Amino acid sequence: MKRVAVLGCGGRGLAHMPGLVADPRIKIIALADINEENARKIKGDYELDATIYLDIDELLAVEKPEIAVITLWTHLHLSVIQKCIDAGVKLIMSEKPMAATWEECVAIAKLAEESGTILTFCHQRRFATGNKLVRSLLDAGQFGKIERMDLFSPPHLLDCGTHSMDQAMSFNHESPVTWVHGAVDLSSTVEFFAVPAEGMFTGIFRFENGVMGTIRCGRLDLDFWGGVRVTCSDGFVEVMWDGQIRRAVLYSDPSWKFPEFEETEHEQMIGMVRNAVDALETGTEPELTYKKALRAGEALFGLYESSKRREHVVLPLSGVIGNPLFDLLAERQSYLSSTSQ
Ligand SMILES: NC(=O)c1ccc[n+]([C@@H]2O[C@H](COP(=O)([O-])OP(=O)(O)OC[C@H]3O[C@@H](n4cnc5c(N)ncnc54)[C@H](O)[C@@H]3O)[C@@H](O)[C@H]2O)c1
Repeated sequence: MKRVAVLGCGGRGLAHMPGLVADPRIKIIALADINEENARKIKGDYELDATIYLDIDELLAVEKPEIAVITLWTHLHLSVIQKCIDAGVKLIMSEKPMAATWEECVAIAKLAEESGTILTFCHQRRFATGNKLVRSLLDAGQFGKIERMDLFSPPHLLDCGTHSMDQAMSFNHESPVTWVHGAVDLSSTVEFFAVPAEGMFTGIFRFENGVMGTIRCGRLDLDFWGGVRVTCSDGFVEVMWDGQIRRAVLYSDPSWKFPEFEETEHEQMIGMVRNAVDALETGTEPELTYKKALRAGEALFGLYESSKRREHVVLPLSGVIGNPLFDLLAERQSYLSSTSQ
């Protein structure tokens, strides 16, 4: 049995539990949270024989887990991933997004690469039955050749757009993005998990395989909320984040219907854990490898950088330090202060 520690026992700590307890190859031996009550709730709800720690360093030193699940806020990811690697953890399953700044994303990727630790980020929606079915139909050419993709996301390009960009990349044969052009709207702002961000964002981008994409985050007249429209030469499909099919059309056959399917309970979290533990056992690349999260992140930080530079940005990203959106937020703040005097 592989020894698992869950680091962070808030909303996402709880959300990971169905996936973890469903895998017979693992045993949760420790939970860490600075709020003991949160850890106690998970321990009680799932009747775990696990030790509770208030301090992650102590947990790692005493328990030496083989697997760590990091469900902490974004700004803590880099430091805790570093601690896990130093403690000899073999598989780290972290929450998304990778980090709040591009340089932290790059640093995390470097840590994983150099240590050989298996590292995943929680784009769990790849394991939704609907998303898997769409992927297999697109791969089989059911709708013809992909021509464009329109991504509709909740606000916060980094926190929510990461799911949308990952979904689009998974549909588009994992093609990387080659250039991006974006415009930020700071007339409203949000703050998710201590990362301040825009209320709306609009961007266009091009995948390496020639497919064009648009992304819209926020609420202004979105066609739909949280999903991707994949337009192909022979038809199109509109898929929500969690794989529900909104519309699917084949131009040559108006009677054609998207195959019926049923979701199973907790399929996303169960699929994610199973796939990651398989990777640990077999040495294969996990579906949610940090490499894919880095590629999605690069496009998102590129979009922020494009807004800042007021020009399109060619990837791979270079010359980007920190989070360009933070600079834009500071600029906006100083503009508002100067005009209010
Ligand atoms: N994959 C998804 O669909 C999805 C959905 C929502 C949130 N998220 C991501 O999950 C992450 C966590 O979100 P959440 O909703 O669980 O937040 P949360 O606030 O509910 O939980 C975070 C927990 O971490 C604990 N904590 C904080 N600092 C700590 C420390 N130093 N050591 C130990 N414990 C500490 C807190 O006490 C809290 O219990 C965020 O980065 C967010 O972006 C992902």
